[in-house]
Amino acid sequence: MRLRKVLIKLTILGTALGLIFFGGFGEFTKSRTANSPGQVEFLIGVSQPNLNGSWQIQMNKEIKNEIARHDDTRVIFTDAAQDNEQQIQDINTLMRYGVDLLIVSVDNAITLTPVISEVYKKIPVIVLGRGVKGYDYTLYIGSDNQLNGKMAAKEAIRLLGNAQGQIIEIAGNKDSLQAEERSRGFHETIRKESSHTRIQSINGNWLKDNAEDELKGLLKSGVKPNLIYAHNDAMALGAYNAIKQLMLEGIRIIGSDGLNEENGGLQLVQKGLIDTTYITPTGGTTAAQYAIDILHKVPGLPKKIILRDHEVNISNVDSYLKDVDSESIPNITNKHSGIKLGFAQVGSESEWRSANTDSIISAAKEAGVKLILKNADNNQKKQIDIIRDFIKQDVDVIAFSPKTEEGWDQVLKEAKNAGIPIILSDREINVDDQSLWTSFIGSDFVEEGRRAGKWLASDSESAKAPLNIIEIEGTVNSAPAVDRKLGFNEIIQQDPKFQLLKSYSGDFTFDKGKKRMIEALETYGKKINVVYAHNDDMALGAIQAIEDYGLNPGVDIKIISIDGTKKAFNSLSLGKMNFTVECNPLLGPQLMKAIKDLENGIEIPQKIITAEETFDQKQAKKESYRRSY
Ligand code: AHR
Repeated sequence: MRLRKVLIKLTILGTALGLIFFGGFGEFTKSRTANSPGQVEFLIGVSQPNLNGSWQIQMNKEIKNEIARHDDTRVIFTDAAQDNEQQIQDINTLMRYGVDLLIVSVDNAITLTPVISEVYKKIPVIVLGRGVKGYDYTLYIGSDNQLNGKMAAKEAIRLLGNAQGQIIEIAGNKDSLQAEERSRGFHETIRKESSHTRIQSINGNWLKDNAEDELKGLLKSGVKPNLIYAHNDAMALGAYNAIKQLMLEGIRIIGSDGLNEENGGLQLVQKGLIDTTYITPTGGTTAAQYAIDILHKVPGLPKKIILRDHEVNISNVDSYLKDVDSESIPNITNKHSGIKLGFAQVGSESEWRSANTDSIISAAKEAGVKLILKNADNNQKKQIDIIRDFIKQDVDVIAFSPKTEEGWDQVLKEAKNAGIPIILSDREINVDDQSLWTSFIGSDFVEEGRRAGKWLASDSESAKAPLNIIEIEGTVNSAPAVDRKLGFNEIIQQDPKFQLLKSYSGDFTFDKGKKRMIEALETYGKKINVVYAHNDDMALGAIQAIEDYGLNPGVDIKIISIDGTKKAFNSLSLGKMNFTVECNPLLGPQLMKAIKDLENGIEIPQKIITAEETFDQKQAKKESYRRSY
């Protein structure tokens, strides 16, 4: 057995650098093998941008409590006291200590991203609460900040009634992605739903005193807002203080964080100091649990966990103060012996879909979940009827892969009224009321499109303009078709060399992919340089059409696709396809875990995003034997 022993002397140096070491101070032995007392197998480093807010302190507390349950694991915390350069140094110090995994929360995504990318080359990294640029991390855990901003905007509109609105937004740190995303969600929604409302933004740096001073200055200059939207509760309290000192009245205040402590958001709402807050979980416990899984190399872990925020105002604050869980968790009531899951599969359009269906059937069997699986044959009306039938059968939970993004409000309201939680499998939907669904498990389709675009951009760096592209899209208005187009466009639009000749819809099937490619070849012939297909089946259909036309797919026309099925791997190995972006269909185990958690009263994340890779011809040749679907 491999034995790695590192003797780390922490106490003196740790104190000097402001490190907090949890798990017994002094010397300890870190060993890959032993479980004997005093021997530590894993060391986790936690780097915080500051600890002057309750939210970050709460995050550390959760991590500490969770790690305390594991005898062989220790954790060291650092606090950069709001200094970006200090946080870079802290991370480097943690690396010198030999941490096995880094948990990092950042205020400044731009400055901190490079050092985090470097660390990620050596050890696993969990980015917590506040994001970094790009995807150089093992796992991201945090809220959907754009949705948080959107919910705040809807609440602002409700609070303002029909009043002519003037809002002051007090933003967090200007280089923080969290602040940027909240702001975007808020502004976009106000613009769309209350165009007469004006927003003026100031920077409060996440701090109460900053917010108070900045706002006081503005109010003294004569600005008369109806509502203040602060990106956190500390700044919302600062706003309240400023308003009170200037003896102004009738100004509503929205904050975010929702901690239950003195001057925490829940108490501010209860005392009537602010109108609304959002409980935004810190994710500390979840991060610590996943850190342990990552260190123990548990397979199939996700890439992103998006936690659910909860809106709290005077109408529901008491129930949250009494028991946060009772209000927030849409529980499985478990009316039968064993859980009954109704799964409305969208169809059987692709190899991917067959692998997805098989994964759900086998995971349900293994988990002891009673599965009723029905297939909607790519027909939305039929899929809605199936869901209605599940409601009639009074199943415990319903999961489905929605054919398209729109058109689900009514049937999901019926499920909600019947008290049946909904899990979205693989595809997301557009509904106004986010409480109509409990969780989404699947891929980041926009990122898949971006990856396809990025490969093309790097592969054709030295190619001459124009490069003519044919896009074969998936089912019209389905989430993967909409998002894969978006992500791909985002990249190719950056270079005028890329010309999109035409986008066709191929409905994710081999036959339609082939048919559309025949049409494209009839119209554009040898002018076509690249085919971007939204899935492998359509790409394989297109390849056949190209061969029938007398051209060489993969050489005369580059083929880029998404899914990463075994058949695509074969085609890559034969040089007929050039690149595929993996979309993981094996969602069954994650779905069953979520259902079990619901049954046990554990709140499940709002979104669980799967980890995925990309494959070119060389990689596919090496990996194809491992492909199970
Ligand atoms: O929703 C996932 C997509 O649906 C897959 O990429 C495609 O092959 C399938 O039909």
